[in-house]
Amino acid sequence: MEKKGYASHFQGRSLLAMKDFTADEINYLVDFGEHLKYLKHHHIPHHYMEGQNIALLFEKTSTRTRSSFVVAAHDLGASAEFMSPADMQLGNKESIEDTAIVLGNFFDGIEYRGFAQSDVENLAKHAGVPVWNGLSDMWHPTQMIADFMTIKEKFGHLKGINLTYVGDGRNNMANSLLVAGSIVGINVRLLSPKELFPGKEITDMADKACAESGAHYTITDDINEGVKDSNVIYGDVWVSMGESNWEERVNLLKPYQINMDMMKATGTPDDELIFMDCLPAFHDTNTKYGKDVYEKYGLKCMEVTDEVFRSKYAWQFVEAENRMHSIKAIMAATNGNLFIPEV
Ligand code: CP
Ligand code: NVA
Repeated sequence: MEKKGYASHFQGRSLLAMKDFTADEINYLVDFGEHLKYLKHHHIPHHYMEGQNIALLFEKTSTRTRSSFVVAAHDLGASAEFMSPADMQLGNKESIEDTAIVLGNFFDGIEYRGFAQSDVENLAKHAGVPVWNGLSDMWHPTQMIADFMTIKEKFGHLKGINLTYVGDGRNNMANSLLVAGSIVGINVRLLSPKELFPGKEITDMADKACAESGAHYTITDDINEGVKDSNVIYGDVWVSMGESNWEERVNLLKPYQINMDMMKATGTPDDELIFMDCLPAFHDTNTKYGKDVYEKYGLKCMEVTDEVFRSKYAWQFVEAENRMHSIKAIMAATNGNLFIPEV
């Protein structure tokens, strides 16, 4: 008799948004990512995708996600081909549907970073192979597995952790942390000016997830309420890729900069508090945008001060490394040649 296992849940599946996955499935990916990290660090081969070819389509720039897919594919025994808008017909001369059919016949899996969530969904509908969402305007699902790995490495568990996301409460990171965090039992707080509170579509999903997991979420513009007893203070850029409204965002979000006063306002003991950030982060003036914002608005750092970024609380580079291990887990679980027992 065929053994029922998670292979049937994962294999051949796309990963488009964490809302499509159960708490058990998300926890499985987190733990599998940790296992793959151990194998990598101990030089133990793990060629679960031997001989496969995967396509990496990026409509927006990327350092971590692109590198993660390339290194993870190589470690899994697969080859990766990167295509930017300058390299492909997609968008100019060819539709998503036609591109999906063509690439689906060449490749065993496709990563896509784009704008509208409907684009990656459309790609998945027509590709006939797993599609992994490498970020859309609405969600950043692969980032969630890395973030949960990082939290689990520090605290040993996810359930009951208080995580405060500080910044634009309507972007892909706020949406993802609120919904995915609620699924796995993290108490998520969105700390944001009222103008940037999330919409009902997202809070409805969080309500449903919290009802199942027992987590509680808070959406507030009050700094003390948002950070009190928090274990994770989480930052993201004030202006996301595809946006250009710097002046509006600087004015709205200036009071919400993550600084040492905010870390102290948590009241959390030092060894139970960390800073995380999906990166990139504007914590100094060593970038083009960082310099522009300093010249125009007099701010030397935006979402996080250099002091917090370099402090004992800083876990953002562990988190960045975990992008690679977690993306490897996602690809191997959905497309790898492995049996995943029921958990
Ligand atoms: N966090 C993240 O997605 O980084 P990249 O934009 O560099 O891929
Ligand atoms: N909200 C950011 C996330 C970057 C990883 C953006 O979309 O630019």
